[in-house]
Order: sequence, then structure tokens, then C-alpha cells
Amino acid sequence: MEYEKARLVPRRFPNLILVGFMGTGKTTLARILAERWRRPFFDTDTLIEQHVKMSVSDFFSKHGEAAFRELERECVEKWLPPDGAVIACGGGLVTGCGMPGILRQKGIVVCLFASAETIYRRICHSSHRPLLQCENPLERIRELLASREAAYVKSGSGIFTDGRNFLDLANSIERMYSTAVASRPNAGPGPSLAGVSPDA
Ligand code: S3P
Repeated sequence: MEYEKARLVPRRFPNLILVGFMGTGKTTLARILAERWRRPFFDTDTLIEQHVKMSVSDFFSKHGEAAFRELERECVEKWLPPDGAVIACGGGLVTGCGMPGILRQKGIVVCLFASAETIYRRICHSSHRPLLQCENPLERIRELLASREAAYVKSGSGIFTDGRNFLDLANSIERMYSTAVASRPNAGPGPSLAGVSPDA
């Protein structure tokens, strides 16, 4: 009887961690999936902003990019929950030394990709991204994408977002996540994802 009951208790779900360049849809998709699975949602930029009590832009201009990367590392290593959450990471978080590997230990990582032109179109009107406040943001996006590509590829399974809507992307990410969960060592029969809280 107890054995039967134990079998019905869902395993705790690993975190789903979304990484990728600015404007690839990490935050929106993480919110959609957190709501769908009834799990807590975290955004590393927001966690950092709450910690330093200022916006990411202000932090960049006061302390510089290197100090921000250190905070991102601290956030991943110390502030994120060990499991059960859906997490959107800042676009440059994976670039820190060893970060792709550290992230993979914290959950199942999916990396969102988009072309430089699409990214530019999606974020050209936003003023809160300090790295793109420059003369030629499209060129800057191209340079940053090229320099970060290896880190993005190393961080987890990739998904290309150009021309796809959020619902379609959320469904694809859900399938990638379920497959990754099922293929983890010791993965037993689990509950279906839809509408199931990790603590249900
Ligand atoms: C950055 C991306 C931003 C934010 C900061 C730096 C980057 O996050 O962390 O402006 O280096 O790509 P989003 O990807 O959520 O815009």
C-alpha cells in the first residue's frame, strides 16, 4: 500500500532554464511555461535588480559589465532554487567562464536562437539594454552573437525562434523538456506536465 502511494508521488521536476540572446523570447516563454505548469518563475535580471536595488542599465553604467557578470554567477550559484522552477537568464549569462556547465547542473537548459535581423527588429525600440545603446545596434548584435555562439551551443539544446509564435515555441520547448526529463538517469514514470505542480 505504502509502496503504491510512493509510486504516485511525483518526482521533483528539474528546473527548466532558458538562455539565449536578448530578444529571443526567454522571459515571455518562461512565463508562459511557468503558468502552464504552475511552477515558480524567475528571471535572473530581476533577481539581480532586486539584490542591488537598481536597474540593470544603472548597474552597468555605475559598475560595468564585468561586475554584472560576477553578480550573474552569484545568482546562478546561490540564489536559484535547486529544482521545480522555470528560469529565464540574461542574454550574456552563459558567457562567463564555465557557466554553460554550471547551468546544466542546475536544470534542463534550452537555448533560444534568432537571426541578428530578427533580434534587431524585436528589440530596436527598447532602451533598457545597455549593450545595444550604440551607433549601430544591428552590427553590435552580429558581433555579440558571433562571439557568444559557442557558449550558447554548449549550454543546452537549441531552438530557432524566427517566424514562430510563442504558443508554438512553448509547445516545442515543453516537448524538449519532457524528453530530457524522461531520459535522465533514474527517471521513473512521472505525471503529465500540463497543470501539474511540482509539489502536487
Ligand atoms: C544582456 C542581456 C540582458 C541583461 C543585460 C545584458 C546581454 O538580458 O542581462 O542587459 O549581455 O546580452 P535580456 O537577454 O533578458 O535582455
